[in-house]
Amino acid sequence: MQEKPARIAIVGLGFGAEFIPIYQRHPGTEMAAICQRSEAALHAVGDKFGIAKRYTRYEDLLADPDIDAVHINTPIPDHAAQSIAALRAGKHVACTVPMATSVEDCRKIVELTRETGLKYMMMETVVYAREFLFMKSLYDSGELGQLQFLKASHQQDMDGWPGYWPGLPPMHYATHCVGPVLGLGRHQAEYVSCFGSGTIREEMHSCYGSRFAVETCHIKFKDSDLSAQVYRSLFDVARQYRESFEVYGSKKAVEWPLVEHEPLVVHTAKRPEPEIPERVVCPDFAHLLPPEIAPFTTGGVYGGEAGGEHLSFTQGAGHGGSHPHLVHQFIELLHGRGEGYPNAVQSANITCTGILAHESALRGGEIIRLPDFTLQ
Ligand SMILES: NC(=O)c1ccc[n+]([C@@H]2O[C@H](COP(=O)([O-])OP(=O)(O)OC[C@H]3O[C@@H](n4cnc5c(N)ncnc54)[C@H](O)[C@@H]3O)[C@@H](O)[C@H]2O)c1
Repeated sequence: MQEKPARIAIVGLGFGAEFIPIYQRHPGTEMAAICQRSEAALHAVGDKFGIAKRYTRYEDLLADPDIDAVHINTPIPDHAAQSIAALRAGKHVACTVPMATSVEDCRKIVELTRETGLKYMMMETVVYAREFLFMKSLYDSGELGQLQFLKASHQQDMDGWPGYWPGLPPMHYATHCVGPVLGLGRHQAEYVSCFGSGTIREEMHSCYGSRFAVETCHIKFKDSDLSAQVYRSLFDVARQYRESFEVYGSKKAVEWPLVEHEPLVVHTAKRPEPEIPERVVCPDFAHLLPPEIAPFTTGGVYGGEAGGEHLSFTQGAGHGGSHPHLVHQFIELLHGRGEGYPNAVQSANITCTGILAHESALRGGEIIRLPDFTLQ
């Protein structure tokens, strides 16, 4: 018997709109509804993709019994409240990063998933980027040897971004660097110690009571001899956009390139010195996906039928081709398959690592332990 498709609604149609054509083609879903506050933009997106059901009020969407799950892509301060409201309304939740901006809200989401049995997945792009999937395949096959250390960064100049961005403490949006270091071996953070460094312009100090230009955090892993280092900057640091991840094993190490889109560097131990590093073009991992959505790992123009209309659209291959993997993982989770990494507890562990890292920096690097509810 054919599986009943999971009926998905996307909330927030900036970044969120990128996922619409993927859900429309995934064999296990129905792209059922879209929601955002501005009516004109809502209809423009609805018309473009042939989606009939459109909501300007999130509460109305949650009251719709014909929606099984929401995929939230609204501004960061709304993530927690909207996830909590969806779980209370009986909907499964996929939410873009971060899960929340407070430890308390992470706790509420974890508790609600436990009480209701509903699924939650944080849609962290880096842990499904082709570079990460390549490194994970080397780790899983034992080619890295014994894992010794991990390091990741996320640097972005957010000058001029509106709303809640000015002055945001770097570690409050740390999932793109915490996610990969924990995600490679599905580890959990046990405690953190973070230092602030440098100073952003004075006009931004009062926004969040934070003045650090860079925050650098050490993470001790639970039940493991491993630790990792992550660093972040958002303002007044001269660095091109870069998400990076480095993993050091006893047999091989892999380093993300210094400039985005260049090849990875793989180091192999015990070779003659000049032969240790090799530039490696990362393979694609589209074979892990249903054929209908496999082309979305690369950029391109696609055409097809949806809602009875012919569509033609361009799809960026941004975020390392991760978008179709995120959709597939979430849909598999809703159908009771796969691990849906990161689930609610894992997302809370990743998100709280960043929140508590900033707290540690404010306290001069004091060690802070992750709360028990973030540990499985
Ligand atoms: N790599 C990544 O994981 C990645 C990349 C880009 C953006 N994001 C995240 O995606 C989110 C959205 O980013 P963006 O750049 O599209 O922002 P944006 O401000 O351009 O878009 C936000 C959207 O949410 C809608 N919205 C706001 N409040 C709403 C409400 N109460 N109900 C319904 N809709 C509402 C707005 O109408 C808009 O469509 C952010 O949290 C951002 O951090 C993640």
